[in-house]
Amino acid sequence: MADRKATLTVEGLEKSIELPVYSGAAGPDVIDVRGLGAEGLFTYDPGFMATSSCQSAITYIDGGQGVLLHRGYPIDQLAKQSDFVELCYLLLFGELPDKAQYDEFAGRITHHTMVHEQLANFFKGFRRDAHPMSILCGVVGGLAAFYHDHLDITKQEDREISAIRLIAKMPTIAAMSHKYNVGQPFVYPRNDLNYAENFLYMMFSNPCENYEINPVFAKAMDRIFMLHADHEQNASTSTVRLAGSTGANPFACISAGIAALWGPAHGGANEAVLNMLDEIGDDSEENIQRFIDKAKDKNDPFKLMGFGHRVYRNFDPRAKVMKETCDEVLAQLGKADDPQLKIAKRLEQIALEDEYFVERKLYPNVDFYSGIILKAMGIPTNMFTVIFAVSRTIGWISHWHEMLSDSYKISRPRQLYTGHTQRDYPAK
Ligand code: CMC
Repeated sequence: MADRKATLTVEGLEKSIELPVYSGAAGPDVIDVRGLGAEGLFTYDPGFMATSSCQSAITYIDGGQGVLLHRGYPIDQLAKQSDFVELCYLLLFGELPDKAQYDEFAGRITHHTMVHEQLANFFKGFRRDAHPMSILCGVVGGLAAFYHDHLDITKQEDREISAIRLIAKMPTIAAMSHKYNVGQPFVYPRNDLNYAENFLYMMFSNPCENYEINPVFAKAMDRIFMLHADHEQNASTSTVRLAGSTGANPFACISAGIAALWGPAHGGANEAVLNMLDEIGDDSEENIQRFIDKAKDKNDPFKLMGFGHRVYRNFDPRAKVMKETCDEVLAQLGKADDPQLKIAKRLEQIALEDEYFVERKLYPNVDFYSGIILKAMGIPTNMFTVIFAVSRTIGWISHWHEMLSDSYKISRPRQLYTGHTQRDYPAK
């Protein structure tokens, strides 16, 4: 694999060190620094600014060009022509399914949507006003206590069963966390509905009245699931890989991913965007400018939520599709004049013309518009990140599966130690 070498010379070290350089299918070449440890050296890269933690063939991002490919297919083509279940198949198995494979896969997911009846008791331990992300973290981790069969992670078949169980049960558990919050009975999944319809049904139906699924909402929901499905080695996916590298239970690994996703710098941003738009209140120029100025103020920790990305230094291709979907949904609902949409569009326009944002290449990311669509569909703000977690489960489990399918080592970073050197405990 190595066709070139990098030579490292370190002041004070007599010999220079040769390191192999590998080229991937696309993207920057990488220098294999694993041999440095034997020379008494470590690399130092807090925040993983230039460190590849693994090899992967699932997703490719070119941040400079605003490109996102899943197994080679561009996200905008997938979002417009495929559906979430097909994307799950593609991410997990590497190729698009034919009709028979699709039907079989969709059928397997549908038949695993129910959760063990006793799992409902878990919810009762939470306060009614618990954030649904905390419920999700706990209950998904709790799945490890319910599904003891097919847990040999060295077997492809067992890993697939865990993957199917997780993809299928996440919407059920997510909807249950909402129902618990609002004090309504849990709703069982229905096998005649597709993935997105089923989620909306479990979220919004109740035993007292007939719930009609709005096809516009179902399509938008499916697209939101697709746009969040995978994003290569992001913080939560890396967390799942790291937990998985210890041989941990797959449900526990996904629970770790949910915890990492929750932060406002990652999946929690969609909730934070809506809270920010609420705080801005109206679309007056001076009001919006006040928030822009706050975001630019180095003495203020506030950041414009839904803006910026570690990898995209051009537009986020997911945000482009999300914006179109947002316009479509609000137009179909007769809410094209939605005040929050107006604030968001003006905010985007001002920020894109402002030198601070232009210089730093800060563009709207996927979370900037998703919250407005979700809100228009009647989804409460505290469920936004939960929906991100439902979508990202396929990404997490595909990376976990990929790692375990190949040779791997426990992930164990090293450090630059800056504390005390050895000292004696004071005599008493
Ligand atoms: N508002 C104002 N300034 C910003 C913002 C923002 N949203 N994002 C970055 N900056 C500034 C930052 O202060 C820094 O300025 P300077 O060079 O003067 O110190 C510069 O831009 C570079 O930013 P950074 O923080 O070094 O970039 P990062 O790669 O470490 O962080 C980020 C990326 C997404 C955490 C950050 O842009 C951010 O906090 N954005 C808001 C939260 C958000 O929308 N997150 C969702 C990400 S997309 C969904 C997902 O994948 O989870």
